Amino acid sequence: MAASERASFDPFTEIDWSQPITDEQYHLPPEILPLYGTSQWEAMDEAERRTYSRHECAALCAAGIYFENILMRLVLEHLAVMGADDPSHRYLLVETADECRHSAMFGEYIRRAGTPSYQPGLHLQLGRSLMLAVAGRAEGYVAILAAEELLDICNRATMSDERVSPLSRAIAKIHVMEEARHMSYARAWLTENWSTVGRLDRLRASTDAPFIVAGVVDAMVNPAVYRHLDIAGGWRAARFGPWRERVTTDLERLTDFLSTTGVITGVTRPVWQALGLVRG
Ligand SMILES: [Fe+2]
Ligand SMILES: [Fe+2]
Repeated sequence: MAASERASFDPFTEIDWSQPITDEQYHLPPEILPLYGTSQWEAMDEAERRTYSRHECAALCAAGIYFENILMRLVLEHLAVMGADDPSHRYLLVETADECRHSAMFGEYIRRAGTPSYQPGLHLQLGRSLMLAVAGRAEGYVAILAAEELLDICNRATMSDERVSPLSRAIAKIHVMEEARHMSYARAWLTENWSTVGRLDRLRASTDAPFIVAGVVDAMVNPAVYRHLDIAGGWRAARFGPWRERVTTDLERLTDFLSTTGVITGVTRPVWQALGLVRG
């Protein structure tokens, strides 16, 4: 399959890890940080904002590792029931190898960042087990798309922002280039297969999908960051402030696609609205 012919990047040869990670520059663009636009953000000086961005960058890397672990397991489950003569066989192995390298790259950033190794909250750990136990193939590809779409928007903003450190930008660039093929595969799979999935499976996938996407959104703001930096009311301000509106906008490409495909239906749309994933 053509997607597996595209270039792959080894982060340990492509990226210069020799420079120490300092707060002379931002680690993520200010505008995508969860606290941006809140009173807590206004109260910080420039140096504090850069430090905070380093912690958010490490937390986002940890969320990336968490998502990629789930994605690899879903893809491996798909591979387990697939013959080697299936046209997707080689591609899915390439995708798994991509995610392995990405998690190694995110882990390297975390080990060098001088931050705690932030872990997703307990409910997300429980949600992970639940999802791996119940998710069918369609939910798997919805989950893959949701995580990859949201991270893609952060990565695209990061890779081209002059205020951000060269290391963060290099990490973001590798991720953007390799995730593009994952997203096109997941979209193509859902488009081709949605109508052939059994009625009951389709109903279950449609019902599960908004909760899976809400879990992905949840994983992108880690309360431990605000506890560690002692930012009073930080998590609430981030989770329910202007960031939440931005995420709904960032999700539009995904939710428009899922509406066209038929994963979001007239019946399930109010659930997406109630969870703040689409606008009313
Ligand atoms: Fe990845
Ligand atoms: Fe991916």
